[in-house]
Formats: sequence, C-alpha cells, structure tokens
Amino acid sequence: MSSGLAVLCLMLLHTGAQGFGILPGKSLNHLEITERAILNTVVQVCRELAQAEGTDFTVPAQPFTAEAVAVACGTPKSSKSFRQAIIFITLMNVRVDIRHALNASFHFDEEMFVQGRKIITEGILVVKASNKQENYESARQKLGEIFHPLQDFYSHSNWVEMGNTLPNSNLIRSDTSIGNIADESRATCRNCDGDDCRNNILEDIINERILTSGYFGIVPFVSTKPKGKCSHGGAVDQTSNIEPKGGINKDTFESSHGHLHTNAANMATAATSKLLEDIRGAAGDRPFLQMMGISKGSNKALCFVIDTTGSMTDDIATVKNVTSFIINSEVGTENEPSVYILVPFNDPDFGPLTKTKDPKLFKANIDSLSASGGGDEEELSLSGLQLALTSAPSNSEIFLFTDAPAKDKRLKSTVVALIERTQTVVNFMISDSSVSNRRRRSDDTQSNRIAASDAQLYRDLAQASGGQAIEVTKNELPTAVSIITDSSSSSLVTLLQAARSPGKADNFSFIVDETVITLTVYITGRSITFTLISPTGESQQSTDTTGSLITASQSVGNFITLRVKKQAGLWEMKMVSTNPYTLKVIGQSPIDFLFDFVEASQGPFQGFDALETRPRAGVNGSLLVSVTGSDSATVTEVTLVQSSGSEEIKGVVVPQESGNFLIQVDRIPAGEFGVRMKGQDNSVTSRASVVFQRQSSTNFRSSNLTISADSNSILVPGTPFSVPFSVMTYGMEGNYTIRATNNRRFNSTYPTSLFLEARNSTNGTVTLSAPLNTPSGTDITLTIEAEAPDGGDTNYVVLRFSVLNPVTDEEGSAAAVSFSTKVMQSPLLCLSIMVLGLCILTELDIQ
Ligand SMILES: *[C@@H]1O[C@H](CO)[C@@H](O)[C@H](O)[C@H]1NC(C)=O
Ligand SMILES: *[C@@H]1O[C@H](CO)[C@@H](O)[C@H](O)[C@H]1NC(C)=O
Ligand SMILES: *[C@@H]1O[C@H](CO)[C@@H](O)[C@H](O)[C@H]1NC(C)=O
Ligand SMILES: *[C@@H]1O[C@H](CO)[C@@H](O)[C@H](O)[C@H]1NC(C)=O
Ligand SMILES: *[C@@H]1O[C@H](CO)[C@@H](O)[C@H](O)[C@H]1NC(C)=O
Ligand SMILES: *[C@@H]1O[C@H](CO)[C@@H](O)[C@H](O)[C@H]1NC(C)=O
Ligand SMILES: *[C@@H]1O[C@H](CO)[C@@H](O)[C@H](O)[C@H]1NC(C)=O
Ligand SMILES: *[C@@H]1O[C@H](CO)[C@@H](O)[C@H](O)[C@H]1NC(C)=O
Ligand SMILES: *[C@@H]1O[C@H](CO)[C@@H](O)[C@H](O)[C@H]1NC(C)=O
Repeated sequence: MSSGLAVLCLMLLHTGAQGFGILPGKSLNHLEITERAILNTVVQVCRELAQAEGTDFTVPAQPFTAEAVAVACGTPKSSKSFRQAIIFITLMNVRVDIRHALNASFHFDEEMFVQGRKIITEGILVVKASNKQENYESARQKLGEIFHPLQDFYSHSNWVEMGNTLPNSNLIRSDTSIGNIADESRATCRNCDGDDCRNNILEDIINERILTSGYFGIVPFVSTKPKGKCSHGGAVDQTSNIEPKGGINKDTFESSHGHLHTNAANMATAATSKLLEDIRGAAGDRPFLQMMGISKGSNKALCFVIDTTGSMTDDIATVKNVTSFIINSEVGTENEPSVYILVPFNDPDFGPLTKTKDPKLFKANIDSLSASGGGDEEELSLSGLQLALTSAPSNSEIFLFTDAPAKDKRLKSTVVALIERTQTVVNFMISDSSVSNRRRRSDDTQSNRIAASDAQLYRDLAQASGGQAIEVTKNELPTAVSIITDSSSSSLVTLLQAARSPGKADNFSFIVDETVITLTVYITGRSITFTLISPTGESQQSTDTTGSLITASQSVGNFITLRVKKQAGLWEMKMVSTNPYTLKVIGQSPIDFLFDFVEASQGPFQGFDALETRPRAGVNGSLLVSVTGSDSATVTEVTLVQSSGSEEIKGVVVPQESGNFLIQVDRIPAGEFGVRMKGQDNSVTSRASVVFQRQSSTNFRSSNLTISADSNSILVPGTPFSVPFSVMTYGMEGNYTIRATNNRRFNSTYPTSLFLEARNSTNGTVTLSAPLNTPSGTDITLTIEAEAPDGGDTNYVVLRFSVLNPVTDEEGSAAAVSFSTKVMQSPLLCLSIMVLGLCILTELDIQ
C-alpha cells in the first residue's frame, strides 16, 4: 500500500467530512452516515452522467440535501421520491438495531467477522438481482439492512485502532480474506478505566494487525465473553464490567473510544459509498438512480387494471385513447410516467402483469387487449388490483376499469392493507353497461347494473385510498377519464379530503398557498349542492354557472370536477346532501410531505421503527414527517383527521436531524382517519412566509390487535421458507381468523385460526414454497392478517422478501463475481478516484 496515497486519502476524507458540516461535539449516527453516503454517491453519479452527456452540472452547496441534489441532477420532480428512498433506507438500517439488537453478526460484535460479511455479501447479491428485475423497493430494503453491519464494523472492530485509513474492501466481496481474525483463545484487551481506555487493545494485536471486536451483553453478571476479549463498552453493555473491563466502540464521542468516533464515522461513510459504487457498477447509472428514486420524468407510474370480458370493448377503446393522449402529450416532458403497468383481468384469469419503461411497448400492450368471454358476471378484479398494488412504486395512482362486481371479495381486507402500506390511490372507473344498452354480457339479457352492495365494495376501496369511485355509463366514460390526465401531473398534491356516509350537510375549509396551481375539486355523489367561498369572501353556488370562482366544471355520472380560480388563502366549501359523498381538493405544487407511522424502540437502543401494520387504537402513537420540495420549509402542525367526521387529534411536533419531524399524538383514533400537515416556508417568495396545508390521500385505520413478523431473511426456492409471526389483542378474547396472501401465488401453509387471550401474544408460522425456477431478484409481498371473531377489527403485517436462487443463477452470479473482481482489483485506486471526486467537488464549491 502506498502510504503517500493513504495519507492523501485520509486528508481528503477529512476535507469531505468537514465540508458536510459536522459540528464539533455532534456524533454521527447510522441515519446521518447513510444519508451522507447516498447524497455523495448520487452527486458523483449525476456529475459523471452530465460529463458523459456533455451537459452542465452545478455542484449543490454543502451540506447536500435531497432537494438540492435532485435539482443538480436535473430531476427536480424526483426530490420527493429521492427523499422517500433515503428515509426508507435509513429506517431499514436503524431497524437492525431494534430487531437484531442482540445478534452479534449484525453488528460485527464478538469477532463475528465471517458471519457479518456473509450478511453483507448475500445482501449485495439480493440488491443486484432486485435491480435487474427492477424491484427497486426490495433493493432499498436490503441496502438499508446491510448498511448497518457495514457501518458498525468501523465502530465496533479495531480496524481504526490498527491505523487503517481506508475502508476494508473485503467486507463487500465474498472471495477474499477479511483479514487476520483473532483466535477465540487469543486475548485482545486489557483492563482499563476512564481515560486509559484509549489504549486498552493489546499492543501485539495492533502490531500484528489482528482483527478483533467487542463483546456485548445486556444481562448483568451473565456473559459469554471469553477470557481476555474486548467489550463493546458503555452503560448498557454489561460485559464491560467483567475483566478485562472497559470497551472499544466508537459509536459516539462519549463512547469508550470516542476520540476515534470521527475516523470511524468517516470510514463508515466512505465504505457505504463504496458499496453503493459497487451496486451502481452492476446496475448501470440510470437504474442505480432509479433505485434511489431519481428518474427523468414524473417518477410516477401510469397503472391500469382492466377488465377484459366481452362487455368491455368500448371501455378498452377509451383506455387506448387516453393512453395515446398521455403518451403523445407527456413523453419527453417532466410529466412523463417513469414506468407503465398493465394488469388485465377477467374470470377465471387475471394477469399477467406487464411493467415497462417503454411507452411504445406499453401502448402496444394496451392495443393488443381485446374484450372477450366472461361468464358469470363477476370478475377477478381484486386479484388484478392486488397484483398491481404489489408491483407499482409506493404513492402511485392506479385506475381500475370494470363494469362488473368483484368475484374475489375475500381479498378486500388484503387490498386495503396494501393500499394503506403503499399509500396508493386507486380510482375505479365503473361503466354500467345497462345504461348505454349497446352491449350485454352473453348470458344476461337483464340489466347489468352493478348492485348497490357490489358498487359499495369499490367505493370503500376508493375511499380507503383517497381515490374516486366513478360510476358512469359507457357513453360517459370518455369524459370521465380526464381524471387520468389530471393525475399524471408530476407535482399533484392533496389539500383536503373528506367523506360523509350517510351524507349530511357540512362545511370544510382548506388553505391554498401561493405555490399551488391548477386548483381542482373532485366530488363524487348524487344530488349534491354546494357553495364555494374564496378567501376574499366571494361565493359561488353549484347552480350558478356564471360565477368567477369556478373557471370550468364538468359533471358526469356521480363525478363532478371543478377547476377553481387561483387565489391564496383560506377557502371554504359548504356541502349539502343527504346522499353519501366524497370531497377532494387537489392542486399542483412542488411542496408536499412524507410520513411514516413509527414506534419507539423497546430494546436497548433508542430509535424508531417504521410500522408495517396498523397502529394500535386508542393509545399514543408517533409519526415521522418531512416536507419535500423545499429545504427551508418546516412542519408546524400535524393532525389526525377523522375521515368521515370532524374529530381531530393534534400531535406535538419535535424536530429531528436531517429535516425530519417526530410527531407524537396522545391517542390514535379508532375510526378511519387521514393525516393533515401544516407547514411554513420562509423562502419561496420574496414576500412574507408561506403557510401551506397538505393532507394524505390514504385513509388509515387503527386496531386493537398487534401483529409482528420479521422480513429480514432471503428466500431460497425449493426450500420451505418459514415466517414466524406473533399476534396479540387488546380487545376481545377468542378465535381469530388468520389469512396469509402472497402476490406470486406461491403455495403456503399457515394456521387459519388462532386462539387469542387478551394481552397475551400467540405465535404462528407461515411457510411459503417458491418453485425451483423462481429467479433471483423476484420479490414476494406477503400479507398476514388477523381478524377478530366478530369481524369488527383486523390488523395485518405486510412483508417483502427477496429471492436468491443458487440454481438458476449460476451464470448470473458467476458474471457478477467476475465483474466485481474486475472493479475491485484495485480497491485503493477505486476509492482514491471517488475521494478525489469529492475533493474536486469541494474545490468547485469554494469558488
Ligand atoms: C443472527 O443472524 C444470523 C443471520 O440472519 C443468523 O444466521 C443467526 O442464526 C442469528 N443468531 C442468533 C443467535 O439468533
Ligand atoms: C378516441 O379519440 C378520438 C379523437 O380524440 C375520438 O374521435 C373517439 O371518439 C375516441 N374514442 C373513444 C372510444 O373514446
Ligand atoms: C355551515 O355554515 C353555515 C353558515 O354559512 C351554517 O349555517 C351551518 O350551520 C354550517 N354547517 C355546519 C354543519 O357546521
Ligand atoms: C407512548 O407513551 C409511553 C409513555 O410515555 C412511551 O413510553 C411510548 O414510547 C409512547 N408510544 C409511542 C408510540 O410514542
Ligand atoms: C378497540 O377496543 C375499544 C374498547 O376496548 C373499542 O372501543 C374500539 O372500537 C376497538 N377498536 C377497534 C378498531 O376494534
Ligand atoms: C376456538 O376454537 C377451538 C377449536 O376449534 C374451540 O374448541 C373453542 O371452543 C373456540 N373458542 C371460542 C371462544 O370460540
Ligand atoms: C399466555 O399464554 C401462554 C401460552 O398459552 C400461557 O402459558 C400463559 O399462562 C399465558 N399468560 C397469561 C398471562 O395469560
Ligand atoms: C413467540 O415467539 C417469540 C419470538 O420468537 C418467543 O420469544 C415467544 O416465547 C413465543 N411465544 C410462545 C407463546 O410460544
Ligand atoms: C402447490 O401445491 C400443489 C398441491 O399440493 C402442488 O401440486 C404444486 O406442485 C405446488 N406448487 C408448488 C410451486 O410448490
């Protein structure tokens, strides 16, 4: 190793680190290390892409933010999805501390070097295979999980103490030696106390460059620490009270080896960037950026789920028309969908799902749809919808076209679970074939009108997702599809959403800020009158066609669309109807918000774990919220708003690092509720600060049940895959119905009923069998549900697993190994190029 280069690199690492604005005395945690590494790497990729494409690249000011980096990359519309990817990856990283606190392999404790590396290198294979299948969500999940041990290595081992100034590149490859690992019998530390703990690692260990790491245990007087081994250290670690006392971790400045915290954190950041570089090399630049939520165009999916039975011929023609329109008008613009998804369904079939980035191919897929067959009136609409929900990116909008009831109503709760977890908006375009009277299902000479109870299923699902259930005649459908072109805008935001069923008169208010354009109101329902009142007190009634507030309106079937004059301030909408109705106010704005329900860790480490379930009803709860589209905006208020009533529960806002806000509410409401955020931005215009309001599209529910399961492991086809889960109720005791559904139609076994005692958890296991030929990178979404004996309460856990297939992948993984060997042959060179890149950035920045 050239020591000159090493010194240079160290210096540059420091330069980079200082450039990122680390205040003295402020320790770096996994969240910040991960965020920094992602931002650095993405800047690097975008800069090189710009160079290759001969376009300009302006390095954003430091410290980098997702917002500024998305702008620098020429994809400002991606700032929300980029931010979301970073938050998701960091939450998956932090989860490792919560779920695997005491498993030494995940933290490189207890000299578990081989085991820790196995987690990382297997995970890298999963990430690469997932990217190849364009399963970016799975790639992000696994990335977060493997970043954790990778980063811990630098804090928990003696790598830094040995005088290393570069990351250990052997941790991200499986075919090399990690280093000289201490024998189990070899002593590595001496007793120490206070300051003299700086040098508690034995000299021969350092001099002979022998790798060791600290032991960790939380139970007093019980230790598995072999004689002479180092401890992790700190108040929680009980092994550090057993000789040799003291510890070696560098987690914070206050840690046993806190004086080396900055070195460890910087090296962890560099190692994280390096792993990302390896992933990028395998994926290619654009797919790598897409994994990070960055793409040209809108970063949205155009997603159709279409009934293809005989009576749907006209509807399919309409879909072809609207698809052509969107593709013709949006390809090449910032509203261009980044992925196109199509799922046909009828009976007894549904699928296959086609997912493509190529608009021409999508158009060809749509054009090749033809309506035929259809027996008994009911179709597998929810199966088709389930497939779309598990393949579309989070926060997508799906349009389902049908003229028939769902045959697979049993999937309703599963579909709701997927809607809640992915915050997907589902719009139902229900065309009633009896009204146009042109085509009928072959076996039905009577009216085909969907019965009220059947339509209610679609209305319920639409409402859960914040979408519309549009009920029109086939003649009216071409008019109703204007909602699809509205929704394709890349910066659509929801300002207000509410529903009343049964209908009743009610008054709603909403803030329109100066950044909002194309203010639009959607109403579904029949026989509704309303009065719209502007911030200046001007009003216009639904019957008034000459007023100045509503600049355009359209009414088709049960669906009313109003375009409203742009005027910032507090608007009011007074609704009058005795029929059920929904009201949604949307607009276009760069400013939006992201949120996750989280749960404070119960374990030895502090942190928040993202919920994969409904939050618990009636008790306190937390959300992690952030504003996207502006670095200067802050969250001022977050309220849980009853969806069909006026109850509101306001949370306490606690600012966190990296522009996140923790919201604590005293009580999660029992019924359906939405999340409303108010914020303030001081920089948008030269005028006074802007106050804005946004609301979630999704309506959430809480539950008296808790359910948990872990999705950390990797599924190997041909081997039964067990997913242990645990259910507990705070409600009634009895036999709870269990359902386990997966999106791949893999065989599974599970207990269909579990007896639950109040407040006593009961365990079950789902066993999945994947066919032998399932390719690596396939993702499986497993939904496990538990339903109360009276059907009144359901909770679920939605898990995502990735497949790694040693059989079908021999070729693929051999290629991957040879590729990574090529790239990694000169790890030092690779790193120095990367660091030099950062150095150049810093210089540019100074100019
Ligand atoms: C720790 O995690 C690894 C990797 O998932 C697993 O193989 C091992 O069994 C776990 N160890 C314990 C003690 O749970
Ligand atoms: C498709 O669009 C064309 C032109 O815009 C129109 O004439 C035709 O009626 C449309 N067809 C359907 C089924 O909407
Ligand atoms: C709505 O506002 C009107 C006054 O504009 C008032 O008479 C009515 O009671 C309000 N309705 C509700 C449900 O608050
Ligand atoms: C609810 O409050 C308790 C006691 O203050 C706290 O320990 C717990 O973390 C809170 N739960 C959530 C989800 O914030
Ligand atoms: C939870 O239990 C409480 C009473 O213990 C009940 O009022 C509430 O409706 C239940 N919530 C759900 C979602 O079942
Ligand atoms: C639950 O199911 C078991 C086995 O089917 C049955 O013996 C028991 O009576 C049931 N308990 C209740 C409360 O329904
Ligand atoms: C909880 O369930 C277990 C296993 O069924 C049982 O042994 C235990 O006594 C129960 N605990 C309580 C508090 O009911
Ligand atoms: C359920 O599983 C958890 C975690 O695997 C375990 O700790 C617990 O003892 C199990 N409970 C029962 C009643 O089997
Ligand atoms: C699923 O189960 C059926 C019936 O037991 C069996 O015939 C089929 O081969 C199984 N499929 C897979 C992929 O294991």
